[in-house]
Amino acid sequence: MEKLDRMSGVRAVVAEWRRKGERIAFVPTMGNLHAGHMQLVAEAKKRARRVVVSIFVNPLQFGANEDIDNYPRTLAADSELLQAAGVDLLFAPQATEVYPQGLGAATRVEVPDVSEGLCGESRPGHFVGVATVVAKLFNMVQADVALFGQKDYQQLAVIRRMVSDLCFPIEIVGVPTVREQDGLALSSRNGYLSAQERALAPRLYQVLSEKVARVRGGERDFARLESEALAELRAAGFRPDYFRVCNRHTLKSATAQDRDLVILVAAWLGGARLIDNQEV
Ligand code: PAF
Repeated sequence: MEKLDRMSGVRAVVAEWRRKGERIAFVPTMGNLHAGHMQLVAEAKKRARRVVVSIFVNPLQFGANEDIDNYPRTLAADSELLQAAGVDLLFAPQATEVYPQGLGAATRVEVPDVSEGLCGESRPGHFVGVATVVAKLFNMVQADVALFGQKDYQQLAVIRRMVSDLCFPIEIVGVPTVREQDGLALSSRNGYLSAQERALAPRLYQVLSEKVARVRGGERDFARLESEALAELRAAGFRPDYFRVCNRHTLKSATAQDRDLVILVAAWLGGARLIDNQEV
């Protein structure tokens, strides 16, 4: 596996692959890799001859009150995992490579509508940071296909919309959430949970699954369902940001007539903000 930290090097390698007619897949990450990321890599390998993974803890997507300095950085261990998984190229740039003009002066990509509400409301500016860095990474790597986890459902919607609106020549693939045996969605943030919080954490998935089953069973009073879920999460020790039944295409609160639904939840447990979702 080749390891590069400059865009020029990545472009040269990718151009050579392209000259040989090889298809290229890209998995952007912030590192601290777990089985969820490795599933993205496994899917990438099925879809392309070459796989590029980036590791970049993107300062632009962290809010002023969010602790980027304590975000887990495990580059050596990540690199071993990627090598073992048969990744061809690891791109791990410095912030100066991604934002040469500095953060304040960087051109930004704003994706309206799907970025609003849900995590966009709880984390102002977050999706501008995500869309900007993903757009830059797409242009730096120039892959044919990019893979993202469905756990970050709104992020995936934002990226799909950006790619469509800005005509990026890249296919976007969403990969189903990987879960622990007890249902907890894999996330780097799970590492912030104490042993006691970790034992409570699967309740998030249980409440979500119960409400999904209720909607499947014909429940159409979504406001009641949401307030029940919020009360159950609070009773279990969470501080919920939102629990919302949404239209899968618009990510707006669903009406009783909507057919394609997704239920999304974000809740704090101690110092960890956990998110999850299930399509109905
Ligand atoms: O999902 C993530 O890890 C990040 O938001 C991403 C897509 C790599 C952009 O920094």
